[in-house]
Amino acid sequence: MAMMVRPLTIAILTFTCMVLGSSTPASARGKGDGRHLHVDLYKHTCPKAEQIVSDTVREAIISDPGVAAALVRLQFHDCFVNGCDGSILLNETPSGEPIEMKSPANNNVRGFEVIDEAKTRLEKACPNTVSCADIVAFAARDASVASGLSHYLVPGGRRDGLVSRANDTRGNLPKSTSNVTEMGRVFAKKGMNLFDLVVLSGSHSFGVTHCSAFDYRLYNFSAVQAMDPQLDRLYAYTLKLACPEVKNRDAQVHLDHVTPTRLDNFFYVRLLLGRGLLYSDQVLVEDPKTREIVEMMANDPNMWNREFGKAMIRMSRVGVLTGQQGEIRRNCRFVNK
Ligand SMILES: *[C@@H]1O[C@H](CO)[C@@H](O)[C@H](O)[C@H]1NC(C)=O
Ligand SMILES: *[C@@H]1O[C@H](CO)[C@@H](O)[C@H](O)[C@H]1NC(C)=O
Ligand SMILES: *[C@@H]1O[C@H](CO)[C@@H](O)[C@H](O)[C@H]1NC(C)=O
Repeated sequence: MAMMVRPLTIAILTFTCMVLGSSTPASARGKGDGRHLHVDLYKHTCPKAEQIVSDTVREAIISDPGVAAALVRLQFHDCFVNGCDGSILLNETPSGEPIEMKSPANNNVRGFEVIDEAKTRLEKACPNTVSCADIVAFAARDASVASGLSHYLVPGGRRDGLVSRANDTRGNLPKSTSNVTEMGRVFAKKGMNLFDLVVLSGSHSFGVTHCSAFDYRLYNFSAVQAMDPQLDRLYAYTLKLACPEVKNRDAQVHLDHVTPTRLDNFFYVRLLLGRGLLYSDQVLVEDPKTREIVEMMANDPNMWNREFGKAMIRMSRVGVLTGQQGEIRRNCRFVNK
């Protein structure tokens, strides 16, 4: 399999850096652009904060390996809806509106009990100090590292929001049926670009999804084709065994059946082979705007490893509350009384 890095790759990298270096669009800035966050924030106020979170996450993964991928997804779903403010954790809000957790877009989002456990331990060690939104960001990093990623430094200082509305998920989370244009639009609203989209899609190198998210690609792709022509035939055959037509559409399938609990760049190699499970992943190689980035990530595991951490940090700054905004929740499920 020849996947050479072509000269154009360099051009794209340069372009990407320029885009990333430019100021965030005002619309994406929202409540905060995350510039007030900083690394080692709890050094004096709660020196063991990050250690406590990482111990909690490690223990949770030992008893439930699948929770690692869930914790990364939890941060994504927190940050893309109303900013990284822990709003996805709330069981109820003072307004009484349906909460984010109840939105169909957040079906199967899990890992809440890991955040709760970390919060309980943190409240014992240093009450009223570490926000739930920061715990989510630390936990996503720790889950990534436990799954093979290099350690990256997560800035702290996000405050917890007081609002959580199911309706706010509308148009803010990509769907498994989205194309690059649609996903790029969602990312742009957060001040993130196609490079971020491709790099963060690498999180689909671990975790599971359900047959219902992709089985139409096997049986009912379009009016003219039953099967998605981009899908590798052999892979499609194994998927049909896992997801028989009109059977249990809730059955779980590994996003990467080769290294299901390992976060690595093999995801991109699989895309180039037509083995992306979700349509929204496979389109990343079909669309010329993103194909080159997929090739780069497939070719260079170290680059992807590094860029994934950096993109996670950029995501962790989206729409954060700082200063006196929001609060430090005492219980991640409820706003303070
Ligand atoms: C959510 O949005 C839908 C459609 O825009 C609207 O009909 C509904 O009333 C909204 N629900 C709440 C609780 O705001
Ligand atoms: C992407 O999806 C949008 C909305 O469904 C559609 O309007 C557009 O034509 C699609 N673009 C491509 C390149 O398929
Ligand atoms: C096949 O797809 C079409 C168009 O998306 C949809 O209307 C139809 O209900 C689907 N059929 C089945 C059996 O799922």
